[in-house]
Amino acid sequence: MEQTLILIKPDGVQRGLIGEILSRFETVGLKLIALKMVHAAHEDVDQHYALTEEWMQAVYTKAKTKYDALGQPFPYADHIAYGTEIKNGLVEFLKSAPIVAMVLEGEQAVSLVRKLVGATEPASSAPGTIRGDLSHDTYALSNSQNRPLRNLIHASGTVAEAKQEIPVWFTDTELYKYEHVNDRVQYDPEWFLS
Ligand code: PPS
Repeated sequence: MEQTLILIKPDGVQRGLIGEILSRFETVGLKLIALKMVHAAHEDVDQHYALTEEWMQAVYTKAKTKYDALGQPFPYADHIAYGTEIKNGLVEFLKSAPIVAMVLEGEQAVSLVRKLVGATEPASSAPGTIRGDLSHDTYALSNSQNRPLRNLIHASGTVAEAKQEIPVWFTDTELYKYEHVNDRVQYDPEWFLS
């Protein structure tokens, strides 16, 4: 089974959405194997958002595509300028107030959680997703205010990313191994056989 890391960012905590967000993941049948509130240290957030060329390019391309579609000039020179500014903003944002970290486990948990979370820009996130239902920030507004998007959640993008991110926030002993009834009901091939 895959494991994936979720952070409820300071905007999610401050808006009183911890229960609602947690409930979306429980309701879909994912298993919660670790959960904590943290007032993060600079080093934790710095390690979590690795400033790689690939990350900067992905962040830049996604945001620029949105500006291009709206016919608006993108106000950053290149992926390094944009990526660096976004990373620095995210570090300041995530360490500014308590956040909630959790690890969820389940069949294809990484892509399932990303589907439930929705698109990076809340205003473009589909209704039914967490960001689409509970937030409405835009690239235009956040960039004009020189701050990161208030998009409530971070969720690992790939299985490899999850494997790098989970140890930033949890030790091995904080990841609980236990049997949940859903393990049987959802995945045990014998469960409904008489
Ligand atoms: S996401 O949210 O993971 O789907 O987004 P992704 O594009 O993969 O990663 C970009 C991270 O940067 C955060 N962020 C921004 N990106 C671009 N432009 C702006 N203005 C911006 N503000 C914040 C975005 O939310 C991603 O961080 P996480 O923590 O993964 O959400």
